[in-house]
Order: sequence, then C-alpha cells, then structure tokens
Amino acid sequence: MKFFVDTADTAEIEELAAAGLIDGVTTNPSLIHKSGKNFLEVTREICALTPGPVSAEVLALDHEEMMREAEHLRKIADNVCIKVPLTLEGLKTCKALSDEGTMVNVTLCFSANQALLAAKAGATFVSPFVGRHDDNGLDGMGLLRDIRLIYDNYAFDTQILVASVRHPIHVLESARIGADVATMPAKVIKSLVNHVLTDKGLEGFLADWAKTGQTIG
Ligand code: E4P
Repeated sequence: MKFFVDTADTAEIEELAAAGLIDGVTTNPSLIHKSGKNFLEVTREICALTPGPVSAEVLALDHEEMMREAEHLRKIADNVCIKVPLTLEGLKTCKALSDEGTMVNVTLCFSANQALLAAKAGATFVSPFVGRHDDNGLDGMGLLRDIRLIYDNYAFDTQILVASVRHPIHVLESARIGADVATMPAKVIKSLVNHVLTDKGLEGFLADWAKTGQTIG
C-alpha cells in the first residue's frame, strides 16, 4: 500500500521523504489555509520535495472554471494531480482531464455509488473519507470494502486512496481490505512505528550493553 501525507507543511514532507516513508502528498483548501502560504507557491515547493503525485484541489464549482484552474495547477509540475469534488461538474472535469492524460483525484467520496461514478469518469484516484464517515456514525471501513469489491468486479483501474485517516487502526484495516493508497497526517504515519515491546526491548538491550563496558569503534 502506498502512503501519502495529508499536509501542506513542507517541513513535515521533507522529514518523511528523507526517511523514504511517503509516495505522494494530498492537500486541500483547509490545509493550504493552515500553511499560511500562497497556494501556487507552496504547491510548487511540495512537488519538488515529493517523489510521487501531489494532489492540488480546484475551488470552482462549474466545469469551465474548474478546467481553467486546473490549467494553472498542472503547469506547476509533472507530478501535480488535480483534485476535483465528487459532483457532476467535478466528474465532467475528471473525464476531460483524464482524457488529456492528467492525473485526477476525485475527493469527498462518501458512498460506493459515488466511487463507481468516479471510476467511470476515469479518475486516477478516488478519495473515500473514512474518518468523517465514522464521525457521523457510519461505517468507514464498510465503505472501503464495498468500493474494493465493486472495482474488482469490473477491473476498474481507479486507485482507492483512503482519506480522512485518523489513527493506526484505519491504516491496518485499509491495508487488509486492499486499498491502494492511504493519505494521513504526518503524526499518524509516525505513530505506526510505536510499540511498547520495541521500547522495552531496546531499554533492556541498552542496559545489558552498558554492563559490558564496551563501545563500538
Ligand atoms: C484528503 O485528501 C483530505 O485532505 C483529508 O484526508 C481530509 O481529512 P480530515 O477529515 O481529517 O479533514
């Protein structure tokens, strides 16, 4: 499963990329706002730091304006992936951009039928928001299972990009279901390393090593 980091914070991206832990980045208007930077400039910086796709979201609601915005965004770098909302206008834009060979991430997906539409429109990625699904008393992982089943039934190429990931169990369950990508905050990626037995084991080894009185080199 590929890991994308869900942030517009370049320091976070740089740190994770140096550790080889990320395959791409997703941003959204709220994350751009949080970064305090200019959208086009910070997207350019992120693209330079990132090995894979960088999702940048259009703000317009109608197809013509979405295409105009996408034109600006895709000029930034070859790894820009245009993010469009899961609306009819967004799907129309997805189809037009995909036909031209541009990567598209269809975002704000909350149902398997919506995911089916995104695949039919040629999306590179569809983003089901599992955390927001759970927040509203719905079954985020059930949604993922349905999308995986439907995409496999018809051999759709669209990749399932699990979004709104809140904790390590979301990552584990997404991997079990066979999601293609998970995008998550840097703190969730880092938390995957934690295990109390690793900490305890390390503590024991270091204590015994100190008793040997030796050093390496
Ligand atoms: C995905 O592309 C979105 O940016 C993101 O995962 C939304 O997550 P949130 O529900 O934590 O805001």
